[in-house]
Amino acid sequence: MASLHCFLFTCLLFFFSSPSLAQQSFRPKALVIPVAKDASTLQYLTTISQRTPLMPIDLVVDLGGRHMWVDCDRDYVSSTYRPARCRSAQCSLAGADGCGDCFSAPRPGCNNNTCGVTPDNSVTHIATSGEVAQDVVSIQSTDGKNPGRVVSVPRFLFACAPSFLLQGLATGVVGMAGLGRTRIGLPSQFAAAFSFHRKFAVCLSSSTSANGVIFFGDGPYVFLPGVDASQSLTYTPLFINPVSTASAYPMGEASAEYFIGVKSIKVNENPISLNTTLLSINNEGVGGTKISTVDPYTVLESSIFKAVTEAFINEAAAMNISRVAGVAPFEVCFSSSNIASTRLGPTVPSIDLVLQNQNVFWRMFGSNSMVEVNRDVLCLGFVNGGSNPTTSIVIGGHQLENTLLQFDLATSRLGFSATLLGRQTTCANFNFTSNA
Ligand SMILES: *[C@@H]1O[C@H](CO)[C@@H](O)[C@H](O)[C@H]1NC(C)=O
Ligand SMILES: *[C@@H]1O[C@H](CO)[C@@H](O)[C@H](O)[C@H]1NC(C)=O
Ligand SMILES: *[C@@H]1O[C@H](CO)[C@@H](O)[C@H](O)[C@H]1NC(C)=O
Ligand SMILES: *[C@@H]1O[C@H](CO)[C@@H](O)[C@H](O)[C@H]1NC(C)=O
Repeated sequence: MASLHCFLFTCLLFFFSSPSLAQQSFRPKALVIPVAKDASTLQYLTTISQRTPLMPIDLVVDLGGRHMWVDCDRDYVSSTYRPARCRSAQCSLAGADGCGDCFSAPRPGCNNNTCGVTPDNSVTHIATSGEVAQDVVSIQSTDGKNPGRVVSVPRFLFACAPSFLLQGLATGVVGMAGLGRTRIGLPSQFAAAFSFHRKFAVCLSSSTSANGVIFFGDGPYVFLPGVDASQSLTYTPLFINPVSTASAYPMGEASAEYFIGVKSIKVNENPISLNTTLLSINNEGVGGTKISTVDPYTVLESSIFKAVTEAFINEAAAMNISRVAGVAPFEVCFSSSNIASTRLGPTVPSIDLVLQNQNVFWRMFGSNSMVEVNRDVLCLGFVNGGSNPTTSIVIGGHQLENTLLQFDLATSRLGFSATLLGRQTTCANFNFTSNA
């Protein structure tokens, strides 16, 4: 297995970096893309340029997605589109073993003698088959402070999908940008194309009117007024779930999603009692904790949800915070009248996800735990995932906002910051003015 990986990784370097380096004397150390929060779906959207002529396309950011997929049925026009031919290096990079024909006029997404994968709409959990293809992608480089020169990857691999797969995604979106742990996820392809570290960082904005950011490559990751969020990260191992968590997948495929090892949970620094079996991933791939950008709020298995919310309600009562009726999808809500507000959000009990040891924890304050559903009501922004979810804890978008998360694929390690609000900045404070 190890030698196969090395062989394919060499292929990746050969196929992607040689052509791009030949064309560009400039080699970026990192790349940057904006991330908007869509107000109606709460999905996180990014824009990249693809095709010849280049065209900006909007994609939903899918942290655990295996690859980029794009609707090729509608308006896909490009002179540089190339389907991946059966048994080519591109097919093996994509993990595509099938080989197929298409019985209609040739066009992007419909060619003979091509391999396919299963593009997955991880919002609706619908997957279908789609042709593996390559086309030009262009994106801005960065020095970590501003965007710089635009660079391109001439043969960026992705999957074509039919238009119907877009159902459930934000208006105007044409696919999903998979940042998952595969050889054709965006992070691996960009790292291979420009020979930089297989690291990327995500910083989601809580505002629907100001963009957050994703960096590919190492830091610095600087937010106005000059806060380098790549400094003072806390690190925890990333785990591989041996069983895919995608909607459809080839037998034996591991999950491309990012799992961390939550060992316990504390509310106001008091440990709560949980069934620890649920916190680890079993042989069937069930259990554990993953990070998701397609779930707007953290989803907890029902017994964990019950334990966390009970502790939170009790601690809140001790702070004289009065409970009010739930507002769907939230079950636990409070009157905001007794809740003070600080830079870190509403003053409510803290929630700690305790990781590899007692000294390593991910602490959530009010800005990440609470959702203002109206002027008078604040709800605990966690939802009940029922009694048999595949993954026991899914840390969702609201809980990630204004936190810098750096994923290091080579060392299988996650670095996470404390809320940037504590450092008087936010994920929306990257200076998007180009200095190229
Ligand atoms: C694929 O080959 C079949 C049989 O030769 C042909 O009828 C069909 O038009 C071809 N499709 C494409 C997309 O080229
Ligand atoms: C803990 O969770 C596991 C996995 O769902 C379950 O089999 C077991 O019965 C649970 N234990 C308790 C004490 O509820
Ligand atoms: C809560 O309210 C009670 C009665 O109004 C008061 O005595 C107590 O000091 C308050 N506690 C806190 C923590 O504010
Ligand atoms: C943002 O970057 C541009 C280009 O380097 C610079 O001119 C501008 O002053 C920066 N904005 C702030 C608020 O620092």
